[in-house]
Amino acid sequence: LRRLQVLSPGFLPDVGLSGGSLRQAPCSSSPSKQEDSSDLVSVPPHLFRDAPVSSRSQYESLYSQSLGDPDGFWGGEAKCLFWKNPWDADRPVCAYNFDKRKGPIFVEWFRGGYTNVCYNAIDRHVDSGRGNQVAVLWEGNDPRFNARITYSELLRYVCQVANLLRSRGVKKGDRVCIYMPMILELPVAMLACARIGAIHSVVFAGFSAEALSGRILDCQSQVVLTCSAVRRGDKMLLLKEIVDEALQLCSQRSGFSVETCVVYDNETAVPRKNVAWQARDIWWQDAVRECSTSAEVEWMESEEPLFMLYTSGSTGKPKGVLHTVGGYMVYASTTFKYCFAPRKEDIFWCTADCGWITGHTYVVYGPLLNGTTSLVYEGVPAWPHPGRCWEIVDKYKVTAFYTAPTLIRSLQAYDKEHVKKFSRSSLRLLATAGEPINPKAWNWYFDVVGDRRCPILDTWWQTETGGVMLTPLPGAWPLKPGSATLPFFGVEPVVLDQQGKELKGPCEGYLCIRHPWPGIARTIYGDHKRYEETYFSTWLSYYNTGDGCRRDENGYITITGRVDDVINVSGHRISTSEVEAALASHPGCAEVAVVGFPHEVKGEGIYAYIIQMDGHTDRGELIKALKVLARKEIGGFAVPDVLHFVPGLPKTRSGKVMRNILRKIASNRTDLGDTSTLADPAVVSKIISSKM
Ligand code: WTA
Repeated sequence: LRRLQVLSPGFLPDVGLSGGSLRQAPCSSSPSKQEDSSDLVSVPPHLFRDAPVSSRSQYESLYSQSLGDPDGFWGGEAKCLFWKNPWDADRPVCAYNFDKRKGPIFVEWFRGGYTNVCYNAIDRHVDSGRGNQVAVLWEGNDPRFNARITYSELLRYVCQVANLLRSRGVKKGDRVCIYMPMILELPVAMLACARIGAIHSVVFAGFSAEALSGRILDCQSQVVLTCSAVRRGDKMLLLKEIVDEALQLCSQRSGFSVETCVVYDNETAVPRKNVAWQARDIWWQDAVRECSTSAEVEWMESEEPLFMLYTSGSTGKPKGVLHTVGGYMVYASTTFKYCFAPRKEDIFWCTADCGWITGHTYVVYGPLLNGTTSLVYEGVPAWPHPGRCWEIVDKYKVTAFYTAPTLIRSLQAYDKEHVKKFSRSSLRLLATAGEPINPKAWNWYFDVVGDRRCPILDTWWQTETGGVMLTPLPGAWPLKPGSATLPFFGVEPVVLDQQGKELKGPCEGYLCIRHPWPGIARTIYGDHKRYEETYFSTWLSYYNTGDGCRRDENGYITITGRVDDVINVSGHRISTSEVEAALASHPGCAEVAVVGFPHEVKGEGIYAYIIQMDGHTDRGELIKALKVLARKEIGGFAVPDVLHFVPGLPKTRSGKVMRNILRKIASNRTDLGDTSTLADPAVVSKIISSKM
């Protein structure tokens, strides 16, 4: 608080922003100061007078209520939604065990309650007379193409697709794999699954055939929904070809064959006649046309699964993180309501692809559960010109813009004119998620994009958390560039030291969460043991986030990054061991070690150390082949930025690769620590000199 008073005399943080003299964003500091900024930034509160929470004191009291009486708090929030049958009154709203010593880990919310997420996201609004409101706005990659769909129209379309799925034998509990670009049909497909109780598994349409086949096999989905092809920027992606290859791999590897592949005919990208066809394939449009526009809702028990989403961990193959109906729905809806303070006329644009959790929660479920209009954008941010995002903001009068820091960093490289020539006057709120935002990028976002009017919500969360966990609430307290500030309601973060002791006050350590919140993933599909191991065994009785953090004297939390072998490249979670496995499969590679290193635009880049196999001489060819392998095994975003050929790797006497040292060398750091315990200490200087 001391710092606050110094910077902003007369400002009382615990009574919100009313009264005090407002300090505007710093703008002329040197880069080093900006990178280490602890300055607090206030924004005019008038934009958020009607927000559900408008001051820190109001937050504090609601926050303590949410921790002191979680059943009361979450029960109250859940009642804002429709339940066919209320949850059991004679059981706690939340039952759980976070301590392996006491038995299996489990989390249950709203047991005995029956509801449906699709019903709540669409029918409820239509039934209350809001059917003519636009539910989804769609802007194509090509600026000439766009579409809009009202809640009533969306209901009819979703019902048709639900009926199509049912006609192909899909029923409650079945898995449906969705491999689609950001066309309107992607949210429609997700909602159709939710309506009939099928578990959707959206696979980002940038993953390779290899990665897709692994995900189809893991969840044994009988149906795949895809699209013939799509253009993103200048690039053409032949998605159906990738699916064909993936399905071939599925049958080669384990004799598994998908029964139905529904293909959306995207004639603007590729003519129908050019698409290879098999007996299992059907055209989306032809099949949908035949289906009725009304479809019964499958009422789901709160703890039945809603969707799964694959994400990378520090070891092994990607895990299918599973979310359930009741808890996820309540958490998506509640976080959206408090964080984005939606108004009826709001146009909400989250740039995330639905292939990631941010797209699930804040393109589809959060906005629609709140009856907001959500914008879906098919293309890439700086195409055909660097001002495209702001052009879209003006075109649709976007009120809130939610994106990844990597996008901010990439746009920052262009002249400000590309932003300034668009008015952006409709914007009230800016937000980021997915990776740390450095203060320099934060300040650019705040100054240049938001004209210092719009608060920035730096939201920290994970695929596993279902929704936002740490975030500022708009206008309720001063912001700090690079910090996600305070926990959301019902979330109790704890910071642990090496020994697992809870640290109090300002500190730095491992970020864990004490109690369950409704949005926490319940298991890893088909592997509950791995769920327990990954999240509940390092620190007993807490959920382990895998992130490190710092907490300041104001209680604000700043995420310092992953503490495991997961790297975050442009907001994509990648496991270093997955990249290693892909590269090591090449016969020219004797050994591989992959680490992250700071990258100006991507946040983190991929740095691969390679020991070349004796006798394999053509290094140029090998480099090309390794890049192809990473692309083929995982996807384009997993191609290493640096391939560094080294004579050896730093290992302990027991043979463990010292990644810490490799990370430091990759980041050009010289404080390598004690290297004398290495099996061969000389290898370090050899690696450094081979870098030159
Ligand atoms: C990182 C994305 C700093 C973090 C929603 C986390 C962040 C991982 C932030 C989860 C943030 C996410 N500041 N780091 N605001 N948000 N992260 O599962 O390391 O794709 O563990 O979920 O991204 O990535 P995921």
